[in-house]
Parts: sequence; structure tokens; C-alpha cells
Amino acid sequence: MFGEADPGYGFVNGETPELGIAFKPEFRQQGVGRRLLGAIMDQARLDGFASLSLSVDPANEAAVRLYSSLGFERCGGYTSSWTMKVEL
Ligand SMILES: CC(C)(COP(=O)(O)OP(=O)(O)OC[C@H]1O[C@@H](n2cnc3c(N)ncnc32)[C@H](O)[C@@H]1OP(=O)(O)O)[C@@H](O)C(=O)NCCC(=O)NCCS
Repeated sequence: MFGEADPGYGFVNGETPELGIAFKPEFRQQGVGRRLLGAIMDQARLDGFASLSLSVDPANEAAVRLYSSLGFERCGGYTSSWTMKVEL
């Protein structure tokens, strides 16, 4: 969670945790990212957070598809990075 004075790329507001996720190549495309993100969303909901956000390069189509399928929607960013947010 970054403050307004020092925001991350996916900053939405001071109450929304911002996610960053990356696996080493040998661990990609085995379903771990989907499971991890689902678990993070469940835990954030239990912890009382209303939303999560992230920043993604729209050229990273696989990642955008993954986030969209989990309910993330574009809420900002119009150049080389999109900000996406999911309501929990
Ligand atoms: C993006 C990333 C975190 C996804 O994690 P992952 O464990 O590879 O994803 P999963 O195996 O759970 O796959 C999730 C979905 O994305 C698809 N997918 C993932 N990587 C893909 C690729 N390179 N090409 C095509 N589809 C891909 C899978 O087919 C899967 O779809 P499905 O569930 O409908 O079958 C991971 O690939 C990664 O670290 N990539 C490099 C760093 C990066 O781009 N980080 C995101 C920055 S915003």
C-alpha cells in the first residue's frame, strides 16, 4: 500500500492495496498465478479490503485476460500501462 504522496503505478487510493506479481519463466502457465490471485483476493476480502488494484502493460495480453477473468476492470491509464481494479 503506497500513499498518495508516493504512489505506485497501479495507485487508485490510499485504501486499495496494489498488487505486483511475476513468476520465474519455469513456473509460468501452470495455473499458479490464477490460484495465487484468487487466494490473495479471498484473503484481502477477509482482511476487510473493498478492492485491489494493479498496473499492467496492455501488450501483456495473457496477463490482461487473466486479470479480467478474475473481475479486474480497467479504471485508468491510457498509454503503456493500464490501471485495473477489482471490487471485492
Ligand atoms: C502473468 C503471470 C503472473 C500469470 O501467472 P501464471 O501462473 O503464468 O498464470 P496461470 O498459469 O495461472 O494462467 C492464467 C491464465 O493465463 C493464461 N496464460 C498465462 N500466461 C500465458 C501466456 N504467456 N500466453 C498465453 N496464455 C497465458 C493461461 O492460459 C491461463 O488461462 P486459463 O486459466 O483460462 O487457462 C505470469 O505468467 C508471469 O509472471 N508473467 C511474467 C511477468 C508478468 O507479466 N507479470 C504481470 C505484470 S502485470
